[in-house]
Parts: sequence; C-alpha cells; structure tokens
Amino acid sequence: MAKATTVWYCTSCGNESPKWMGRCPACGEWNTMVEEPKREKTPSKAAARTRAYISTENEAEPQALKDVSLSTGNRFSIGLSEVDRLLGGGLVEGSMILIGGEPGIGKSTLSLQIPLGCPNLKTLYVSGEESPGQIKLRATRLGGDDSNCSILSETLLENILQQVGRVKPDLLVVDSIQTIYSDSLESSAGSVSQVRECAAALLRYAKESGTPVILIGHITKDGSIAGPKVLEHIVDVVLQFEGDTRGSYRILRSIKNRFGSTAELAVFEMTSGGLRQVLNPSEILIPMHQDDLSGIAIAAMMDGTRPFLLEIQSLVSSAAYGMPQRNATGFDVRKMNMLLAVLERRAGFKLGAKDVFLNVAGGLRISDPACDLAVVVAILSSNFDLSVPLDWCFCAEVGLSGELRPVSQVQRRVAEAGKLGFKKIFISSFNKEESFADSGIEVVPVADIPALCRMIFKAS
Ligand code: TYD
Ligand code: MG
Repeated sequence: MAKATTVWYCTSCGNESPKWMGRCPACGEWNTMVEEPKREKTPSKAAARTRAYISTENEAEPQALKDVSLSTGNRFSIGLSEVDRLLGGGLVEGSMILIGGEPGIGKSTLSLQIPLGCPNLKTLYVSGEESPGQIKLRATRLGGDDSNCSILSETLLENILQQVGRVKPDLLVVDSIQTIYSDSLESSAGSVSQVRECAAALLRYAKESGTPVILIGHITKDGSIAGPKVLEHIVDVVLQFEGDTRGSYRILRSIKNRFGSTAELAVFEMTSGGLRQVLNPSEILIPMHQDDLSGIAIAAMMDGTRPFLLEIQSLVSSAAYGMPQRNATGFDVRKMNMLLAVLERRAGFKLGAKDVFLNVAGGLRISDPACDLAVVVAILSSNFDLSVPLDWCFCAEVGLSGELRPVSQVQRRVAEAGKLGFKKIFISSFNKEESFADSGIEVVPVADIPALCRMIFKAS
C-alpha cells in the first residue's frame, strides 16, 4: 500500500503547504496550519465535469460591458419578511447563502422554517446531522406547510448532487456544510479541503442551475465560521446568528451581502413553535419596568436603514479592590474607557475609584456612535443615583473634549422616538438646523457634557 502522505492547510485562507509552518506565507495568519491527507492525484469528478463544461459546451467569450443585458437577478420572497429584508429584498436566483452561528442558536430551525414557509417552491432540505424522523418532529413543531418540501438525510456530496439532479428543487438547503464530504478526497468531513471542495461543488451547481442554495455553517470558538475563510469568500451572502442561547432573542446579522447592505440586522424570538420575527425591535429593547430606575438610559440608534431605540444599563459602584473593574456587554470596552476618561477630564467626575459595568439590552452588540450619549447618561445616572425619566432618549456622539457631535439621519431617529411615544430627545446642538416640525417630540439640542449634566441632573 502506498504510504499515506499528508499536507498542511491553512484554516484561514486554504493555502496548501508540504510542511507545518507557524505562519501561513499566503495570508500571514499565525497558528492556522492543520494536517490533512493529501488530495488524490486524479482530478476530482467535479473538477473534471467543470473542465468538460468549460471546454465544450459553453466557451465563454469576453463581452463588452455595455452589451451585457441588465439583469437584477430574479428575486423571490422566502416567507420571512425580515430575512427577505436582510437579503436585500428576497433570495436571488443562483445565489449561495451561508448561515453561521453557535450550536443551539437556531440555524436548523430557521433553515427548516424557510422551506415550510414557502409552499409554492419545491424545496430540498439535505441534513447531514438529523434523521428524517427528527426533521419531521421539528417540522411538526414549526407547524408550516410541508407539502412541497423533500427531506434527504445524506452526507456524501456525490449522492446529494445526484438526488438534487433528480429532484430539481427551486431551493436547496444543506445543513451543515461541515458534515458533507466528497469521496474524491481522503480527508474527513469538516476538514479544510472537504469544506472547500463541497462548497465549491454546490456553488457550481447553484450558478449552473440558477437554484439558490442555503448552507448552514458551524462556527469555531472564536466566533468565525469553521473551515477556510475561502468559504466566506465564495458565497454571496453570509448571515450570522448571534445572541445568548439561554435567552429567547436571536439576532441575525448580515456580514457579507453581494446583493444588499451589510448594515442590517433582524431580531427573532425563539418560541415553542419556532422563530418568531420581531418586526419592531424597540418593543423588546426598551424597558419593561414602570418605575424610574437609576443607571438606565435609552439610545436612539440606527441599524442600517432602520432606526430603533434600546436600553443601556450601567452600574457604578465603589471599587472593592485596588484596580477598578470595567466591564461592558454589547459595547466596546475601549470605547467605554474613552468615554470615562472624557467624563473624568472634561466634566470633573471622579470615576477612577469606581467599578463601572455596562450592559446593552437584548444581547445586542452596538457600534453606532450615536449611542455614546446614552452610555454617558446611564453611567452618570448610576453614579449620582438619580434616575432619568423613561420617556427621554438620547442620540449624539461624544467627542474627546466632551462636546456632543452630530450624528447621521437624526431626523429618522427623532421620528422613530416620537412614534414610540417618547417625550424628549437630546441631540447635539450641531444637528439643530434640521427641521423636526412634525415629529411630535420635544427635541433638546445640547452642546456638551457639562451642559447636559446641568439639564438632566441639575448638578455640576
Ligand atoms: P437548532 O435550530 O437545532 O440549533 P442549531 O441548528 O443552530 O444548532 O435550535 C435548537 C434550539 O432551539 C433548541 O435548544 C431548542 C430550541 N427550539 C425551540 O425553542 N423552539 C422550537 O420550535 C424549536 C424547533 C427549537
Ligand atoms: Mg443544527
């Protein structure tokens, strides 16, 4: 028997090397090389098919760009309006979508809810993880229409492609790409070469047949999608499921989208009957309590094109140990430290001997600079133990000298706050030229942090 040979693959870029290296020479990442059996010499069936396709049937020639007919790609709705919105207005023909997320977050649930939600499409749901019985159980729980959805429990790529060729579905779902393997490679399922090969074969199928393909992908401990980064490069859309699996809210975020914006997110609630779309995220992100509590402020933030309001909570207490603790969930700690330094220097607050904890409601991660002001107000409110009325909200970026900087699309944020019944919104005074005539909410322009404190806490 021939000696088994192995090669090293970079898990980040898929680069191949005959020996181990600490740093991948192609992408420069450290500690990413893994050992896998070498690919066989004879070209894989899929590669041979592609070659035959290229050389005979369809010799592509360059085309003048001006002669290319403008096709926006046929889109169709997949029954979940929030996912349609994330995708940029529905699923595009021949596109490949990758949905990643931690175990138990709801990837399989979502990917089964899609076929069940569009009974007018012939769908094929391929699972390498669950038996048809288990899938049926889940489908019953989800209560959709399963009349036009076929199930295939299979992990061998060649068999899947054969069945797909026979069924000719309008939509193919593969759960998950890490469990599928091709027999043209010796390495085990989930390895870099298998993931790369299987995804490439499915991509070829998607592009040749015009069938959209939804892939489910596992993620690694550090939160990136398992397998080579090339997986993310070759697909058209990457959607990432986030949230605390113990809580019921889930956030689906688009991190790559060739057909739409990546600044969008959708909120879902995991119920006993599957994922429910939360059409108005503010409903869950603003407080449920009636009393005014200190340490809470509402931010008017923007997610892509949609404004919504969310609660920011803070707790400031005397540091029990020498080194004050700084902890933030859903917010960048470095940014929080910067805001604390601004409060210390420009507004004279002695926060150096205090522990500061910050939490963003609903398990959301925020990066919109317009949330700065609400973060500052929440911290000050907890520090003074003075509550801020719950029908006030905040929307401005805080600069290093304590000035409030204007934010984009302030009119839409103000309008949203007005719609939700807020009475006052604090914005940067540089935003005040805009007209907020019919927003039904009092707009308070503020110049800097000391002015804000005088207005809200009657201090300083
Ligand atoms: P699942 O889709 O299997 O997660 P993944 O494929 O990402 O690993 O989701 C599993 C979790 O969702 C599990 O903890 C049970 C819960 N769940 C519900 O709460 N309601 C439901 O209707 C379903 C189908 C699952
Ligand atoms: Mg699953």
